Amino acid sequence: MRFAGKRAVVTGASRGIGRAVARALVDEGARVGLVARSGQAPAEWQADIGAGRAVWLAEDVTRPGAPERILAACAERFGGVELLVNAAGGARVATALGIPEEAWRADFELKFFGYARMMRAAAPYLRQRGGVMVNIVGVAGKDPNPTLATASAVNAALRAFVKVLADELASDHVRVVNVDPGACETGLLAEMAEGLARLYGGTPEDQAAAMRRRGGFGRLPTPEEVARLVLFLLSDEAAMVTGTSIDIDGGVHRGLA
Ligand SMILES: NC(=O)c1ccc[n+]([C@@H]2O[C@H](COP(=O)([O-])OP(=O)(O)OC[C@H]3O[C@@H](n4cnc5c(N)ncnc54)[C@H](OP(=O)(O)O)[C@@H]3O)[C@@H](O)[C@H]2O)c1
Repeated sequence: MRFAGKRAVVTGASRGIGRAVARALVDEGARVGLVARSGQAPAEWQADIGAGRAVWLAEDVTRPGAPERILAACAERFGGVELLVNAAGGARVATALGIPEEAWRADFELKFFGYARMMRAAAPYLRQRGGVMVNIVGVAGKDPNPTLATASAVNAALRAFVKVLADELASDHVRVVNVDPGACETGLLAEMAEGLARLYGGTPEDQAAAMRRRGGFGRLPTPEEVARLVLFLLSDEAAMVTGTSIDIDGGVHRGLA
């Protein structure tokens, strides 16, 4: 129960990594604002919502004013917010010149501006008593991937942004950290496999199998494994970790930075 008494906002909480993080936080005693676009909470959350451990905040994070509404609603329900996890993102399979400008803009709008605006909206709450922001970003920001052109650029931008934001918030005891998964076992993997099959042929199943073979240890991280790293970073055990990006990819990323 490392998070007893803590209040958190988790975006992308309906599935994948965000869902696993939110589940782990509630299981360790936090009260959590769960953010995704669907109007209704998935059935698995009903008991937690009924018991006051979670609240469902149906919002599209790209909508004007949504980040401020999310933070205000969570703070009102729980009396404050100390933790933010950004996982409402995606990764479009696309080459740099293979998609129109609207798609470049949409990808930046969802993940770069979506994450950055959530962090800006959360800052006043976290500054009150100290806190932690963790962003689920991705190793393509360090190993730019020609088939994930916009995701590579978005992730690299978030890597720089977290560094400067961490500096700005350090004096208020707010830490900001990125987690960089390689490909991992969520619904997004199936979407990426379909995109790769469209670009290069083969079936989505072939493409997913190839991604798994290329994963460290011959498999890909599970959302629960990513969540365990996120919970460590959110906890006081990581009190000196800020302004950095931590890989969880089975050692696939080869760069030294
Ligand atoms: N899975 C991977 O292989 C992998 C690898 C590296 C990095 N990442 C990054 O990790 C993050 C999470 O990925 P994931 O695999 O967990 O994705 P996922 O399974 O597709 O889940 C995405 C979540 O975000 C929510 N969401 C999407 N757009 C939203 C919006 N505009 N407003 C609010 N919520 C929104 C979705 O719910 P609704 O659709 O209901 O809104 C869902 O809960 C992403 O940024 C992704 O790029 C993933």
